Amino acid sequence: MKKKALIFGVTGQDGSYLSRLLLKKGYIVHGVKRRSSQPNTFRIDDIYSDPLIKKNNFYLHYGDVTDSTAVFSVIKKVVPDEIYNLAAQSHVAVSFDMPEYTTNTDATGALRILEAIVRIDKKIKFYQAGSSEMFGKVVESPQNEKTPFYPRSPYGVSKVYAHWITVNYRESYKLFASNGILFNHESPLRGETFVTKKIVKGLFNIKIKKQKKLFLGNLYAKRDWGHAEDYVQAMWKILQYKNPEDFVICTGRQYSIKQFINLVAKSLKIQIRWKGKGIDEKAFDKDGNCIIECKKKYLRPAEVDTLKGDCSKAKKLLNWKPKHDIKSLIKDMLEYEYKSNIQ
Ligand code: NAP
Ligand code: GDD
Repeated sequence: MKKKALIFGVTGQDGSYLSRLLLKKGYIVHGVKRRSSQPNTFRIDDIYSDPLIKKNNFYLHYGDVTDSTAVFSVIKKVVPDEIYNLAAQSHVAVSFDMPEYTTNTDATGALRILEAIVRIDKKIKFYQAGSSEMFGKVVESPQNEKTPFYPRSPYGVSKVYAHWITVNYRESYKLFASNGILFNHESPLRGETFVTKKIVKGLFNIKIKKQKKLFLGNLYAKRDWGHAEDYVQAMWKILQYKNPEDFVICTGRQYSIKQFINLVAKSLKIQIRWKGKGIDEKAFDKDGNCIIECKKKYLRPAEVDTLKGDCSKAKKLLNWKPKHDIKSLIKDMLEYEYKSNIQ
């Protein structure tokens, strides 16, 4: 019998990569999408039109993790072997503007799914999409599964709740419920307001003269960036492990936003000169045009200055390691911009 997976957050970056991975592995995949006034399925539309994927292996259901009835109904209807909870208001800066909604979705959303599992079938395995944002103002570096959390945003705090409620339901009801603590991961399908996509798309458009300037915030935060394609493999491996446990998933390398910009500019053969300090720091091209400027509106009330993970546990127990590095990530993201612009 084919395994059945249910993905909350199927229309997002990770949802689309995970759907493809599970379909390739022979799963029947069910996804939960939100109702929106415009189509929101652009990341998974190609799955329908792929002749290699039989239509009856991929199903979409309307739902929202803020709606207990909808969550319960879809789980009861599908009764999957595995549930991946990727649904979230995933933008850290936006979580300061919408703290209550973020909590309802990112914290209580996980609880709603766990409660439904307990009531419907305790054998359903559960994956919670945890985040390195939970480490926030880091108390040690690099961060591993034992590093204490110190979240710095309503998003981070909500994810800490989701993490502990997952642990609690595992211990209380003996569920197979695991947390992935994933560091930043990007791809051509990354949302356009996250910094890597903003930089890749912005500099590409500047190169082809479609855009004059890119506006950013803090250039000195450091992140451990991986590729979503590698990280969805880890999600699947976490649920195939013999025990339900929590795993840090990362590359172990960190770069600042400024270093990321310099790498993308180099790939695009844009010569950049930096001038000024702090919020007045700007980047100029070889003709003296200012192409990058910083704006206060992109600074956050509290920042996560540095993240760098240690995934020794996942390497040892899951035999997982990333295939991509920062250069192949940037290459992949730039190729997508190139293809999108010549079509
Ligand atoms: P994403 O692209 O923003 O996708 C989020 C998904 O959640 C979308 O499908 C979105 O639907 C859905 N969603 C939002 N609110 C919902 C609600 N109330 N009910 C049901 N679905 C809802 O995020 P991602 O990068 O794929 O990340 C996937 C998960 O991993 C998220 O939980 C995120 O917090 C977590 N995470 C991400 C990273 C990373 O670096 N990417 C790192 C650590 C953890 P719409 O398409 O309709 O908006
Ligand atoms: N978004 C954004 N836009 N960030 C900027 C900008 C800008 O114009 N300029 C500088 N930054 C800085 C942010 O202040 C932050 O320090 C860093 O770039 C990364 O920001 P994001 O790309 O928005 O990602 P994030 O690290 O806040 O959150 C992402 O990774 C988390 C895992 O650590 C999201 O995917 C979260 O959902 C995820 O949990």
